[in-house]
Amino acid sequence: MDKLVIKGGRQLSGCVTASGSKNSSLPIIAATLLSGQGTFTLHRIPALKDITTFTQLLNHLGAVTTFSGNTLNISSQNVESIQAPYELVKKMRASIYVLGPMLARFGHARVSLPGGCAFGPRPIDLHLMAMEKLGATITIETGFIEASIPGGKLRAAHIDFPVSSVGATGNALMAAVLAEGTTTISNAAAEPEIETLCKFLIAMGATIRGTGTTELEIEGTNSLNAIEFSNVFDRIETGTLLAAAAITGGEITVNGVEPEQMKAVLKKFVHAGCSVKTTENSITLKSPEKLFPTDITAKPYPSFPTDMQAQWIALMTQAEGTSHITDKVYHERFNHIPELNRLGAHIEILKNQAIVHGPQPLSGTKVMSTDLRASASLVLAGLVAEGTTEVLRVYHLDRGYEQIEMKLNCLGASIVREKYNEF
Ligand code: EPZ
Repeated sequence: MDKLVIKGGRQLSGCVTASGSKNSSLPIIAATLLSGQGTFTLHRIPALKDITTFTQLLNHLGAVTTFSGNTLNISSQNVESIQAPYELVKKMRASIYVLGPMLARFGHARVSLPGGCAFGPRPIDLHLMAMEKLGATITIETGFIEASIPGGKLRAAHIDFPVSSVGATGNALMAAVLAEGTTTISNAAAEPEIETLCKFLIAMGATIRGTGTTELEIEGTNSLNAIEFSNVFDRIETGTLLAAAAITGGEITVNGVEPEQMKAVLKKFVHAGCSVKTTENSITLKSPEKLFPTDITAKPYPSFPTDMQAQWIALMTQAEGTSHITDKVYHERFNHIPELNRLGAHIEILKNQAIVHGPQPLSGTKVMSTDLRASASLVLAGLVAEGTTEVLRVYHLDRGYEQIEMKLNCLGASIVREKYNEF
């Protein structure tokens, strides 16, 4: 198993380029199942564990994939199997993304129910509701979702999501593009990753109106083409890198980004006292002498993203005062807090709010990652902690950050990846 050994107290400075987005790569890769013609060439796909897991699933279904650098080639011509096995789905809940495209193309799908999640319940009822609205019959048998279409082809429907769901919106889009008629989706997720999926499907030949908004209209078609496509940047990796500059008192520029997609996060960095300058495709953040306490409430896009909540809590441990952090998306997403407190932070949890008392000097010790963004918050804390911090079980981090220690070391951090054995 790997750990990151971090020597704290070094200010970050310099330039770094953001990787492609993990959370848009996954639905895009799933969408390649919709076309049996030719080979897709996908650029700016991050080399991450979750991407490897997902391509393994597509290979299991019969797709042919080759990954070189950050370019992924996929041909789904020979896909026959319609079963997504537990062994692969349990590794990554986003595997549920194959449900919509498999149903749409083959009229049948058998997908293992996803496993649990470290930060609370993550149901899939909205995914199943959308498929049923589009005419699928869904049963749950021996831990599998059995989905089929009695009439042979999905038919258009109006889908009104009671809760904004990135995954369920993605699945509904990928099913509706091959349904008969025009499907409308209300309260769709408007995250940039879903906007990118819409752009990808349109490039494949789909007709979708409302891209980037919460009201989508999809005209079903009979066939979709394999295309070449360049993925959007990862706004959560970018926010994490900016937080690394802010927490170490440094100044960095992140290139290859679209600042427009990060307005809520950049606004909070400014409230915290940072200087933020943007160009069309870069963001420069300079940390202030003293950070101001800044409350955040994580909500669906375009609000502050839940995937930046843990990183923000780490940053606020150094602010001159008390900050209140609320997560309206995942009410229990606070597994990082006990470990941050072991580094010397003073954070309380009251219902679904974290109260961060700052500034608290942190001192390095061993800490345990529990999930992807929690591990990112521990790395940020290690960058500012006195002495050495060892972040264990970094396989969580590797799911969503491409070469993060290399990027941070290029900016002046001192991080070494080491093997270790757990008792
Ligand atoms: C996506 O997960 C992201 N993952 C998550 O990022 C992110 O935290 C989340 O969206 C919210 O932005 C990927 O894109 C691969 P949701 P997803 O469906 O689609 C409830 C990371 O760190 N809900 O938008 O699973 C759910 O419980 C990961 O990169 C239902 O009730 O999230 C939650 O409260 C972690 N029923 C809310 O909706 C459903 O059927 C939002 O979840 C589905 C969701």
